[in-house]
Amino acid sequence: MNYRHLFHAGNFADLLKHAMLLDLLREMTGGDLALTVIDTHAGAGLYDLASGAARRTGEAVAGVGRLISTPDAPMVFGALKAAVARANLGDPIRYYPGSPVLIQQGLRPRDRYIACELRPDDYAALKGVMPRQAGVLVLNEDGWAAGIQRVTPWPEPLLVLIDPPFERPDDGVKAVDLIEAMLLRNRGAVVALWAPIKDLTTFDALVSDIQDAAPAAPILITELRLRGLGDPMRMNGCAMIVVNSPSSLETHAHEAAEWIASQMGEAGGLGRTEWRNR
Ligand SMILES: C[S@@+](CC[C@H](N)C(=O)[O-])C[C@H]1O[C@@H](n2cnc3c(N)ncnc32)[C@H](O)[C@@H]1O
Repeated sequence: MNYRHLFHAGNFADLLKHAMLLDLLREMTGGDLALTVIDTHAGAGLYDLASGAARRTGEAVAGVGRLISTPDAPMVFGALKAAVARANLGDPIRYYPGSPVLIQQGLRPRDRYIACELRPDDYAALKGVMPRQAGVLVLNEDGWAAGIQRVTPWPEPLLVLIDPPFERPDDGVKAVDLIEAMLLRNRGAVVALWAPIKDLTTFDALVSDIQDAAPAAPILITELRLRGLGDPMRMNGCAMIVVNSPSSLETHAHEAAEWIASQMGEAGGLGRTEWRNR
C-alpha cells in the first residue's frame, strides 16, 4: 500500500466526490429512519495542506484553493465550502476535510457511521480526528471485507462510499463484487463508487460490469474529464458511479462536474452525467 491521500487531498477529484457525497447525505438524512453510512476506504480524515506532501503535488491549490477563491462557484459546492471553512477557523485552506469528517458532520445523532482504513498511520490519524461518539466506529480493517459484514438489511437506509486507491489492478473487480454482495443484502443500498478515468475501454468495462451486478438499480454515472483521453497512462479524469442514486442528484452532479472541468481542465475536458437501468 503505497497510496497516501495526503498527496491528493482537495484536488479536482475530491471536489466532485465530496460535493456529491454531501448532496447524498442531505438527501438521505431527510427521512425518519436512521441512516447507516459505510466508508470502505476512509483515509486520514483531515489533511494538512501545508505539509510537504500536499505542497509537492500542488493539487490542493489547483483544486480546493481555486474553489475557495471563486466567489461565484455554483451552489452545489456550498456545503463543501462551509465544511472547509469549519475545518480552518479563519485560515481558508490550511486543512481539508476528508470523507470521514464530512460524513460525521452530516449525520444526526441517531445515524451510524463505519469507517475502514487499512494503513496504520492513516488509521491512527483518523482515530485522532474523529470524535468519540456513539454511532461512530473507526476500524483498522480491510474495507472490502469489513464493509460487507456491516451492511444493514433492507429496508434500512444505507449509504456506502467505495473510494479505493486503484493502485492494484483488481480494485475495480473488487468494487463490482462488493456492490453485488451489498445489494443482495440490502437492495435499496445507495452505493457511490469513485473511479479514475484513464482510457474509455477500461472505464466502459467497469460501468458495464456494475450494470450487470446491479441490473435492477438505477445507476447515475458522472464523468469529469480534465482533457481528452489520448494518453491512457495519465489520470485524465474521474467519475462517481452511484448505484440506486436518487434522481435529485443528477442536476447537481452535472453542474459540479462541468464547473470543475471548465475551471481546472484543458482542451477536451468535459463534465457529463448518464443514467443506466432507468
Ligand atoms: C482515496 S483514499 C480515501 C479518501 C477518503 N475516502 C476521502 O474521500 O477523504 C483511499 C484510502 O484507502 C486506504 N486503503 C487502501 N486499501 C484499503 C483496504 N483494503 N481497506 C481499507 N482501506 C484501504 C488507503 O490507505 C487510503 O487512505
